[in-house]
Amino acid sequence: MNRSEINSLLATAPDSQTVLVKGWVRTFRAKRFIILNDGSSINNLQVVVDFDNFDENLLKQINTGACVAVTGTLEASQGSGQAVEVHATEIELLGASDPGVYKLQPKKHSMEFLREQAHFRMRTNTFSAVFRIRHAIAFAIHKYFNDRGYYYLHAPIITGSDAEGAGEMFRVTALEANKAPLNEDGSINWKEDFFGKQTNLTVSGQLQAEAGALSMGKVYTFGPTFRAENSNTARHLAEFWMIEPEVAFYEIQENMDLAEDFCKYLINYVLDNYPDDLALLDERIAKEERNMPADKRRPMGLIETLRFVVDNEFERITYTEAINILRNSKPYKKGRFEYPVEWGKDLQSEHERYLVEKKFKKPVIVRDYPKGFKAFYMRMNEDNETVAAMDVLFPGIGEVIGGSQREERLDQLLKRMKEMDVHEEELWWYLELRKFGSAPHAGFGLGFERMVLFITGMSNIRDVIPFPRTPKTAEF
Ligand code: 4AD
Ligand code: MG
Repeated sequence: MNRSEINSLLATAPDSQTVLVKGWVRTFRAKRFIILNDGSSINNLQVVVDFDNFDENLLKQINTGACVAVTGTLEASQGSGQAVEVHATEIELLGASDPGVYKLQPKKHSMEFLREQAHFRMRTNTFSAVFRIRHAIAFAIHKYFNDRGYYYLHAPIITGSDAEGAGEMFRVTALEANKAPLNEDGSINWKEDFFGKQTNLTVSGQLQAEAGALSMGKVYTFGPTFRAENSNTARHLAEFWMIEPEVAFYEIQENMDLAEDFCKYLINYVLDNYPDDLALLDERIAKEERNMPADKRRPMGLIETLRFVVDNEFERITYTEAINILRNSKPYKKGRFEYPVEWGKDLQSEHERYLVEKKFKKPVIVRDYPKGFKAFYMRMNEDNETVAAMDVLFPGIGEVIGGSQREERLDQLLKRMKEMDVHEEELWWYLELRKFGSAPHAGFGLGFERMVLFITGMSNIRDVIPFPRTPKTAEF
């Protein structure tokens, strides 16, 4: 007999037909009702057991976390809460679960505790909802670009360049730590290493995506990226996924339009296709906040927030305007910002959050940042002080997207690389893109987990990637 998935059974008209289901036991209530979930949706199936018909030893082993196969008849449910239920005629224990040892008992667990049980946390309602939505967003990303004629380009994971020039790279080497071949001056001879040069895990696929855009017009990458920055925050991972569209002939304005349209599409996709999972996450937050003081609660519920973002235009301001707004703000005047607000200094998360959450109360795109703290490849504006950069800032999250129009003029690019000490030899091929058929082009990078964080309303980025990598943790 073929196994039925629970989500399809729940939508089937009951007619005492015999069915086979397999899944993990959430609870076994009153030794009569097995609550079963197989991951096919947020919804559980109730299995009714008449204990006279089953071996007592078998029933004793139906504990939370156990895996069972149940054959039975599909019936209209007498109880409230579900339309159908299965009346068991046969139960096979596929995998037992010792209740004295299995840690995921049906009670409230902290997020921190569940992180230590990452191999099981997808069995909870919250995490299965989060990871179904993560899947949905990944799918919607490919659909969005495919429907619009973009090509998915796989950028390499091992590279020889530091695309962001920030030096926050994990080294890739096949040399043994204590036996590395040395040069005469005692430094490591990387020529002897696997690739014949120093290599690292990529921090961004952008430079390769630019080669794609200047050949195929419209491309995007979607892959893992790695940063060895020691930021132990709820917004940073050492291994995260990034989506980087790159488009020939786009300038900064079109780049901002694309970013806004793309973000709204992804949110709409989840609103339209995953209402049950969103409702569960919405309810979870409401419950969690019930006992909090009013000023600690979020201003809107999760679904309300998502709708608000798709229904309103993002605010667009320049960096210079942002600085003026911040310097005229109450927290600035009362000395409440920890970091200085000064033209030429990067915006800190407290500043971004003020703009988004207090001033405009919606997503904000900040453009035209000072060249001083932005990457070498961003296009110089006519003022020679700012570059055509744009960051998209979201409520509760801060930066979700960083992007720019790229410097397509060879002389300007060389000048910036010199000023910023970026080595020409390593990026010879990137420079050739400006020597042969250069064209205006632009793109951006969306932090995938930050978008998942926003859409699921979770509070910590470690809870929206199955197995997070952060400083001092690479378990699982
Ligand atoms: O702003 P970033 O550093 O931009 C780039 O890497 C460009 N090459 C993108 C481009 O123009 N093609 O990173 C892009 C986004 C950020 O806005 C943020 O959402 C996310 O990547 N991000 C991180 N997400 C999680 N953990 C980290 N450590 C992150 N660092 C950046
Ligand atoms: Mg950035």
